Amino acid sequence: MELLWISPKRTQVIKMVLLLVMVALLSLRGAESRKFAEISDSFEYSAISCRAHSASITDFGGVGDGQTSNTKAFRDAIIQLSRYSSDGGSQLYVPAGKWLTGSFNLTSHFTLYLHKDAVLLASQSQDLNEWPVIKPLPSYGRGRDAAGGRYTSLISGTNLTDVIITGNNGTIDGQGALWWQKFHKGKLKFTRPYLIEIMFSSDIQISNLTLLNSPSWNVHPVYSSNILVQGITIIAPVTSPNTDGINPDSCTNTRIEDCYIVSGDDCVAVKSGWDEYGIAFGMPTKQLVIRRLTCISPYSAAIALGSEMSGGIQDVRAEDITAIHTESAVRVKTAVGRGGYVKDIYVKRMTLHTMKWVFWITGNYGSHPDNHYDPNALPVIQGINYRDIVAENVSMAARLEGISNDPFTGICISNVTIGMAAKAKKVPWTCADIQGMTSGVTPPPCDMLPDQGPEKISACDFPTERLPIDMVELQKCSYRMNYM
Ligand SMILES: *[C@@H]1O[C@H](CO)[C@@H](O)[C@H](O)[C@H]1NC(C)=O
Ligand SMILES: *[C@@H]1O[C@H](CO)[C@@H](O)[C@H](O)[C@H]1NC(C)=O
Ligand SMILES: *[C@@H]1O[C@H](CO)[C@@H](O)[C@H](O)[C@H]1NC(C)=O
Ligand SMILES: *[C@@H]1O[C@H](CO)[C@@H](O)[C@H](O)[C@H]1NC(C)=O
Ligand SMILES: *[C@@H]1O[C@H](CO)[C@@H](O)[C@H](O)[C@H]1NC(C)=O
Ligand SMILES: *[C@@H]1O[C@H](CO)[C@@H](O)[C@H](O)[C@H]1NC(C)=O
Repeated sequence: MELLWISPKRTQVIKMVLLLVMVALLSLRGAESRKFAEISDSFEYSAISCRAHSASITDFGGVGDGQTSNTKAFRDAIIQLSRYSSDGGSQLYVPAGKWLTGSFNLTSHFTLYLHKDAVLLASQSQDLNEWPVIKPLPSYGRGRDAAGGRYTSLISGTNLTDVIITGNNGTIDGQGALWWQKFHKGKLKFTRPYLIEIMFSSDIQISNLTLLNSPSWNVHPVYSSNILVQGITIIAPVTSPNTDGINPDSCTNTRIEDCYIVSGDDCVAVKSGWDEYGIAFGMPTKQLVIRRLTCISPYSAAIALGSEMSGGIQDVRAEDITAIHTESAVRVKTAVGRGGYVKDIYVKRMTLHTMKWVFWITGNYGSHPDNHYDPNALPVIQGINYRDIVAENVSMAARLEGISNDPFTGICISNVTIGMAAKAKKVPWTCADIQGMTSGVTPPPCDMLPDQGPEKISACDFPTERLPIDMVELQKCSYRMNYM
């Protein structure tokens, strides 16, 4: 049978005839109306661009029974649909069901849409066909779990433009438990896969999805630009290893908003490469806005800057951040040998509950890819602004540790009220090798951050001009199911 989604004129005629037959059947048999409604369904969604061509994974032999492998169906579907990249683009619909699959690559001008009751289940097999092994990231020089290569991410894309992964809160389940066990037992030959990784690409939208139990990081845009991440729920056990939420890595112009993350590592981790490899690659993360993030991560940060920051991190704006039972809020992590910089960081309006540290800056994070890092490569940490923060049940207000002979400068903290826990540490602030100022902060800060008096309560910067990614307007797109 010829595939109807190609939509030449002849199929339009067939569709009309089918429609007429169905309308006739419908008027004859009321009981059939529900079925008709289902197969003629269509829906709308918001996206950076809409598509001319549509198909369902079932058109490619996909079976949503949770048992049958759909690896081939997804790979075939995307190879077929990539033909439309320069002809209006295409969208692939995943209906309700459980769709077991190994990793697959996306294409340009393409949308993957998951129905609200669709679950992509990551294959439990560690067969190299299901999970091809690729080279380490050039800015890292090696895999994080093992020195060699790394398994490709469940959903990957390289060298793409205009790619969307969205849904009406459909689910991608990484079934990570087996990978976590292998990691803990030191049995991994290669680095664990991520759930979504988009490399060397631009114009990316990842929205309205739930991501469960990733083997490792959840969402990893790397060496990319113009990225919108919106309405993502990420859930993994708080003890699961390295299950970072969203990791913009050597990316420009990124907007992360309305996300809810419970994880075993940093909810958002901003990165740009590791020691000598990151310095040589030299690609920063800049122009990043994170807003309306809710984070629960008892052993990690709501937002981490680093520790891999050797390509530099600049112009990060975080606002309206809520963290509950989280180790620290917006943390800088770096070390001797990293080089690079973290500068022009702006944070405002955080509501924090049950935290170990509200402010935590670490200059001695350690963790090197190998012994070839340059001990003279000192990171520049400069212009870290925090304002308008209320925190409760906090063990220690701040732990701020720069590097000797490399002080971290321009640290500004204003309008902050920290309610200490009943069992709080006796000394609420510890500071070393840092410089900056405070205003309107309780409990009173360390001497290295002198209080400039109440008139400076709004002294800490937050830019007023918007980033280009904030100008992106979403279109209303539609998907119409075929009469197949
Ligand atoms: C996500 O879903 C919400 C409704 O829950 C909708 O308002 C919003 O437009 C959607 N966003 C995207 C980018 O799909
Ligand atoms: C996906 O693309 C990568 C290159 O980025 C390649 O190594 C891998 O084999 C591709 N996977 C599949 C299933 O085609
Ligand atoms: C991506 O593009 C680069 C440069 O054009 C090329 O060297 C590389 O092979 C491409 N990779 C893939 C997976 O397409
Ligand atoms: C999406 O699904 C998750 C998991 O079931 C749920 O916690 C979350 O509230 C849902 N989000 C929306 C916007 O419906
Ligand atoms: C101080 O922060 C609170 C929120 O925590 C905010 O409501 C208030 O307007 C801020 N005050 C100033 C002077 O900016
Ligand atoms: C306060 O924090 C401690 C941990 O430091 C926690 O055990 C306790 O439940 C928290 N109390 C409230 C009221 O959240």
